[in-house]
Amino acid sequence: MLDGVVKSSKYASSYHITPLEGLLNDPNGLICFKGIYHVFYQWNATGTTHENKSWGHLISKDLVNWERLAPALVPSEYYDKNGVYSGTAVEKDNLLYLFYTGNVINEDGSKVSYQCYATSEDGIVFEKHGPMFEHPPGYTRHVRDPKVWFEEEEQLWYLILGAQTEDEMGTAIYYTSRDLKEWTFGGEMFSPEELAKLSQRGFMWECPDIVTLNNQRVFIYSPQGIEAQSNRYLNIYQSAYLTIKKNQQTFMIEHPEIVELDHGFEFYAPQTFVDKNGNQLMFAWMGVMPPEVEQTQPTIAEGWVHQLTIPRVLTFENGKLYQRPAQQLSTLRQSKQVFSIENKWEIKPKSMALEVDAIFEEASGDFEWKIKESTQITYQQKNKRLVISRLNWFTKLPEQRIIELEDDLKVLRLFIDGSSLEVFVNEGEAVASLRYFDNSNNRLSYHGTNQGQVTIYELKGEK
Ligand code: FRU
Repeated sequence: MLDGVVKSSKYASSYHITPLEGLLNDPNGLICFKGIYHVFYQWNATGTTHENKSWGHLISKDLVNWERLAPALVPSEYYDKNGVYSGTAVEKDNLLYLFYTGNVINEDGSKVSYQCYATSEDGIVFEKHGPMFEHPPGYTRHVRDPKVWFEEEEQLWYLILGAQTEDEMGTAIYYTSRDLKEWTFGGEMFSPEELAKLSQRGFMWECPDIVTLNNQRVFIYSPQGIEAQSNRYLNIYQSAYLTIKKNQQTFMIEHPEIVELDHGFEFYAPQTFVDKNGNQLMFAWMGVMPPEVEQTQPTIAEGWVHQLTIPRVLTFENGKLYQRPAQQLSTLRQSKQVFSIENKWEIKPKSMALEVDAIFEEASGDFEWKIKESTQITYQQKNKRLVISRLNWFTKLPEQRIIELEDDLKVLRLFIDGSSLEVFVNEGEAVASLRYFDNSNNRLSYHGTNQGQVTIYELKGEK
């Protein structure tokens, strides 16, 4: 799906979701409704800055071929006039419910947020129903990003929101409902004792989500204000998970380590949903970055900026969250070539829409993969370190992220698109995403000390 200004872009993505034009940020309202997948996303159709957010809308039968529809929700009412902010979707009694935050800027410049909902019978035309409840006392205006789900045992709907306390600490609050209309405030998701387990709170939590994977509940969130610690938390804001337990309306933090979901440069605001096969999938926004850097991104001059990640399947194994490329993406494969790699190897593909699956024969020695001239994936066997580096378009300097692996590296899967790379390490034990902007000739090369086999698929795309 290549349309809008992206069609003529030097950095076009072939199989990633991009805006038609303007700015895309968070994935919103992800759901399979009446057999059709819906991906909504934060969209400023009027420019490449963070204002005038509406819900862009795409549908698909297979998560691979997308049809772009008119935006589902646009600012129009007193409660969302300056932005229809992020939120989620559920289905009840054949109706699609969208929950979102209305952003309002008053005449004196002060800002207010409202938690709102809208419904639709066909998933295309939505009726807005306005705010669901009063702003909860004790929190600043930074209360947003409703996530709604149903608890079978309690026969109860839950709604959680990212929030900021009056003393500017990040947190999550929850509400419950029997009918998705009348909501009862439950207070903070985590008690002060639970929150005290966290090494860092940050000043605001955005986009909270809860998912159960192999009987393990996982709380996913995007905390702002987490300080960098050696190789961790290096981006402006993080997306991370905590393992948690729930007993009736009590949420407990099981393992308080703030584990980042992605080791790359601009992964943010992920959201989960269930696919037709019952798998838990996740999309995220690529990418969050300081505004002064964002506004120099090379696509800005072309009138668009940002994209979503590919959909990833989530599982919980060996005490950790794993992410693998969604199985559905295998239908993008056009041609397949298998090579043995040894010492030095390179290809000059026609298009940079590629899936690369590399399997090393034994525990890997040192190696380097290079994408075009600017982007490298380097493995240092001695300390089981994977270093991902790219040339930063703003500083014009190389920058890197380091992944410390527990096991030797045996499998590497790369999803390369016109200007993006997603690296899946050892069956999804670690993932790193990045954008790269490089006009040099198409090229993929390997340089290493051990042998392996690489399968390259050219992926369907128009570039
Ligand atoms: C996260 C976020 C959300 C908000 C939306 C506005 O990137 O800041 O908290 O709802 O983006 O576009």
